[in-house]
Amino acid sequence: MLTLGIETSCDETSVAVVEDGRKTLSNVIHSQVQLHAGFGGVVPELAARDHLERLPGLLELALERAGARPSDIELIAATRGPGLAGCLLVGTGIAEGLSAAWSVPLTGVNHLWGHMYSAMLAVPDLEPPLLGLVVSGAHSDLVRMPEHGRFEVIGRTRDDAAGEAFDKAARMLGLGYPVGPALDRLARTGDARRQRLPRPSLPGLEYSFSGLKTALLYRLRDLGDADEQTRADLGAAFEESVVESLLEKLDAALTQVPSKEVVVAGGVAANTLLRRRAAEVVGDRARLTMPPLELCTDNAAMIAAAGHFGARHPATVDPSLGWGG
Ligand code: KG4
Ligand code: ZN
Repeated sequence: MLTLGIETSCDETSVAVVEDGRKTLSNVIHSQVQLHAGFGGVVPELAARDHLERLPGLLELALERAGARPSDIELIAATRGPGLAGCLLVGTGIAEGLSAAWSVPLTGVNHLWGHMYSAMLAVPDLEPPLLGLVVSGAHSDLVRMPEHGRFEVIGRTRDDAAGEAFDKAARMLGLGYPVGPALDRLARTGDARRQRLPRPSLPGLEYSFSGLKTALLYRLRDLGDADEQTRADLGAAFEESVVESLLEKLDAALTQVPSKEVVVAGGVAANTLLRRRAAEVVGDRARLTMPPLELCTDNAAMIAAAGHFGARHPATVDPSLGWGG
């Protein structure tokens, strides 16, 4: 059964065709990096307009690459949130139009479900129960997924998300958009031991990154004109504090709720240090799945996968947690 996925929640326009929720037949992604680079960040109005302009061409390409015709599609899945309101409207609007024109059912997908389901595309035999850490631009959530369609948020951030913290730190260090990957590259040339920064530590399974951000701000102010190497050392120290904090709680969660399967997903899961350290922290206690980079950052294949399973398993999620089906 083929699902057409549409993702337009932020600055990636993506259309994908996925078979049986597991097999990616096509996953076409257009990044708006060039469009927003001059502004230093995503401009919502420009992003929405660009989604609208790109979607028809990407749709054609996704079908062509999958070797599929509209009549082969049995379900359309579009991201319905969280994300930039105008951008979401473009994706869901086009999906509604296609659903009517092709007489195919439409399902709205929670973007965070999508990130979790990106793991199912990477590892075809992966099944719940799972323990997940979803780290994106706006979320740092520890999630139990006892079965398809059921998510229990057991830990989250009190303030900034890990991706947001990376983005703000990167800007303080003078890096340009897209800042997350730029900080990753800068940190590879730095030494965290030369510029120690505090490691956030809250009780239980809660995260907090705002104090760490302030510590970086004050350190930069105290240093005055930090040279290139010092900025790289600071980038490495900041990255290390965020990554170790994320993994300290993942480690604790795995002890509290032992699980044979652990998933680390979302844009921040593309981070080099997080990928290396997560494998060390999880060790042989569980199988760790970190999707390949193109499935970590926003894409429509993960939305199609989540839509496929979501349509079969009615959601039982507390909407106040932001993970509503
Ligand atoms: O999941 P995602 O692509 O979009 C959202 O759903 O928010 O995540 C975007 C976040 C951004 O904060 C971006 O800077 C971060 O993921 N990111 C990274 C890396 N690649 C993307 N953070 C650290 N290292 C990376 N390599
Ligand atoms: Zn995302």
